Amino acid sequence: MEIEARDLQFSRGDRPIFRGLSCRFPRGKISVVAAASGGGKTTLLRMIACLLRPDSGAILVDGTRDLVSLSRAESDAWRHHVGMLFQFGALLDMLTLYDNVALPLREHSKLTEAEIHDEVRRVFEAVGLEGVDQLLPGELSGGMVKRAGLARALIEKPEVLLCDEPFSGLDPPTVRKVEELLQAVNERTGATVVITSHHPLSTMRIADHLVMIGEGRAVEGTPQTLVREDARVADFFEEALSPPAVARGAS
Ligand SMILES: Nc1ncnc2c1ncn2[C@@H]1O[C@H](COP(=O)(O)OP(=O)(O)OP(=O)(O)O)[C@@H](O)[C@H]1O
Ligand SMILES: [Mg+2]
Repeated sequence: MEIEARDLQFSRGDRPIFRGLSCRFPRGKISVVAAASGGGKTTLLRMIACLLRPDSGAILVDGTRDLVSLSRAESDAWRHHVGMLFQFGALLDMLTLYDNVALPLREHSKLTEAEIHDEVRRVFEAVGLEGVDQLLPGELSGGMVKRAGLARALIEKPEVLLCDEPFSGLDPPTVRKVEELLQAVNERTGATVVITSHHPLSTMRIADHLVMIGEGRAVEGTPQTLVREDARVADFFEEALSPPAVARGAS
């Protein structure tokens, strides 16, 4: 599915967050949404998942269906096409990993427990979490929490996969593993993937398409093109890519 945001306006109180934000998320590709903290990344994902509505504007699916004007029931139906990896895990602490991941199927499908078991096995295998399904979320490392969140996001075979800060709080080798995992999922399922990140290296490595939000609007393109052509994007990525000490030494 292709998603396109058109002229989104959104304020909280008298504070504008989106001031005519437009961008696209190409079908079957990995897009990364970058912005400074508080720039509206999570807000945009929540709008695509119909968990939040802009004040005005449209979010078109495949150029026609507008998510902003869906009814409550239609929004619920849309969310079955969408998998979301939340910024802060959002696993239920009292349930084992197995039960956390099985929950959407138990609630929303007519599958038998045996069928659910097969599906849960499938996603645990896909994210490399075999053998730990009886652990509680509190017993997991940060990398395992991200994998478990991803397993739950994948359980309903989403056509659109939204991942909010999948790399935050992880050590570099684990970041690399999560990148590879997301690329593998994208290749195998063909889902349209939207990732938020302020991790410049990961963004450069995995983004087919980059959407950079600043002051409530977006610029977009391939990461390489945007860094070359847009000074603000270059600043955002340069600073983090080359630490000041290195930059001074080089000049
Ligand atoms: N429930 C809310 N009530 C009021 N303001 C909110 C609410 N949620 C978000 N905001 C505001 O909206 C703006 C965008 O927030 P958002 O969480 O989307 O940013 P973000 O880019 O995801 O930041 P981060 O990198 O820290 O996760 C912020 O200024 C935030 O204070
Ligand atoms: Mg956020």
